[in-house]
Amino acid sequence: MLNKAVELLRAGDVVAAPTETVYGLFADVTNDSAIQRIYQVKGRPSCNPLIIHVSGLEMARRIAIFSDEAMELVNYFWHVVRLPLTIVLPMGETHISRFATANLGTVAIRCPSHAMALDLIDSFGGPLAAPSANTSNSISPTTAAMVASDIGPKIPLILDGGPCTVGIESTILDTTVYPYIILRHGGVTQENLEEFLGQSIQDSLDDELYRTNKLIQESSGSGITIKAPGMMPRHYSPKLALRINAAYPIGNEAFIGFGENVLQCDINLSKTGDLAEAARNLYSALKTLDDPSKYTGIAVMSIPQQGLGIGINDRLLRASS
Ligand code: TXA
Ligand code: MG
Repeated sequence: MLNKAVELLRAGDVVAAPTETVYGLFADVTNDSAIQRIYQVKGRPSCNPLIIHVSGLEMARRIAIFSDEAMELVNYFWHVVRLPLTIVLPMGETHISRFATANLGTVAIRCPSHAMALDLIDSFGGPLAAPSANTSNSISPTTAAMVASDIGPKIPLILDGGPCTVGIESTILDTTVYPYIILRHGGVTQENLEEFLGQSIQDSLDDELYRTNKLIQESSGSGITIKAPGMMPRHYSPKLALRINAAYPIGNEAFIGFGENVLQCDINLSKTGDLAEAARNLYSALKTLDDPSKYTGIAVMSIPQQGLGIGINDRLLRASS
């Protein structure tokens, strides 16, 4: 299967494969038409750039300009603790397709920790671009079956590496501004990053920053252009209306619980109140319950706004808007 995947990538096709966060839709980052195929399969707006996946710091240094601090940072998060950090850096002199970076002049890079993703990149022998392997704005897939039921018919191959162990996307840290800024909360917490750096980081969820930093800018045509479109107000959306911070279901709502003292719920994200377990279960729970023939909506209990809970709540909020 791995050989077949590499063959397809070399031929300029796309392949779905697991990472520890969510399944990705991979393509050769140097091949314009392969990258355009990703956008086509996802129905993704071309102004929304892709994350470039590498198998380590050495490969990353071929495509971006690293400061000493950036090198220490990714070495620690990619190679020591192996947590999902995406770092935004100035682009180096490379042959990366401009369609992958949306002409930003910067690149978002990450090294997955999933063995199958690393094998794929190394066997291919170069960086691969990959967004989550789902139709744009729908729920990100955390199993091969979720990929199959969504974009499956449009792609030639899905590598099955089992359920993703993190379950929400990587944390995106923009290091081209100072102080650094978290563009998307995800599988590495802000505390993890601040503790390593020994300094505080800005948070794009801070409203003031949204405006002052022009992370979201008005544009003439389609409304907004965005620096990290994972920040679009509506994203990760189920078909059913989602109600957050719910104490109990109303009418025929499906109910997602969290923690010990939940009387009746359809799915409990973590009976022990473990945020890592909740993150792991989040997208499959939403996908399972997103059934308009059975429910009128989905209600979710409140999740603590700390650690991984910040990434979970961010996705719930966008799914509910
Ligand atoms: O966990 C993940 O990050 C998954 C797996 C497959 O690796 N990938 C993922 O990709 O979530 P995607 O395409 O769904 O999200 C990519 C995010 C978008 O919000 C995009 O705007 C941002 O990365 N991004 C990409 N390049 C950027 C850049 N140069 N500057 C700022 N943001 C960038
Ligand atoms: Mg996505």
